Amino acid sequence: MNVFTNAENLRQALKAQNDKKTIGFVPTMGALHRGHLSLVSTALSENDCAVVSIFVNPTQFDNASDLKKYPRTLDKDVALLETLQGSVFVYAPEADHLYNGAVVSRHFKYGAIAKEMEGKHRHGHFDGVGTVVSLLLKRVEPAKAYFGQKDFQQLQIVKKLVELEKLPVKIIGCPIVREENGLAMSSRNKRLSKEQFEAATVISKTLKEVKENFEKLSIPQLNALAKKRFDESKLIELEYFEIANEATLKTAQRKIKGNTYRGFVAAFAGEVRLIDNMQL
Ligand code: PAF
Repeated sequence: MNVFTNAENLRQALKAQNDKKTIGFVPTMGALHRGHLSLVSTALSENDCAVVSIFVNPTQFDNASDLKKYPRTLDKDVALLETLQGSVFVYAPEADHLYNGAVVSRHFKYGAIAKEMEGKHRHGHFDGVGTVVSLLLKRVEPAKAYFGQKDFQQLQIVKKLVELEKLPVKIIGCPIVREENGLAMSSRNKRLSKEQFEAATVISKTLKEVKENFEKLSIPQLNALAKKRFDESKLIELEYFEIANEATLKTAQRKIKGNTYRGFVAAFAGEVRLIDNMQL
């Protein structure tokens, strides 16, 4: 496996293959799981090679302890990527190098989409994401970049970022990959105890129940149903449940014909923050 810490060396290695080869890019923070591997497989199927970045980005964390405890498993990650068929390059930069010495966020004018949900609850998060994704896209110069829909709001933010920065890359959103028990795959799942891992199924079960009742119940009734399910759970604490317009991400108070909606959850299992969403 080709592992690069330096973007110049990465670019030279990519060029050495053939200048005209297309690159599919999968940005990650490591601790890879089947969700990431499915993104890389899609990237490999649509491009000549895939670049996977592994970088725990300090500027997108609003909580120092969360940043410190974020799992870092580079050797295991590389071994997992080696199981895939195709030409995969790993880019694992040092923070100072990637950020040219100043590890700080830029500020982006994403508009209203950044003010909802994660924007309200994780101060500065999307500026950190935008800063690092912009730096990575400029280093890797991919034709397409792949993001999981688990971070649905992040996916919309990255699409807006690419528009704002006029970056020549197509952003592709890929379906959520779930554990057998329904829990959305996340690197943070590695930090859950066995009990928390099982209890966290309340997140996907509630989203599914809301989806099944979406036609029948009003939005306030669906909100109450979701809240009840989390109140019943001993180990999982709800931060927010929202039904939002899929295009604007604005909280919906009632259903309007022609609009599509998604349910969004952020919840804590102990210190571990989990998010998920589902189209309704
Ligand atoms: O989704 C993630 O893992 C991160 O937010 C990303 C896109 C790799 C930026 O650090």
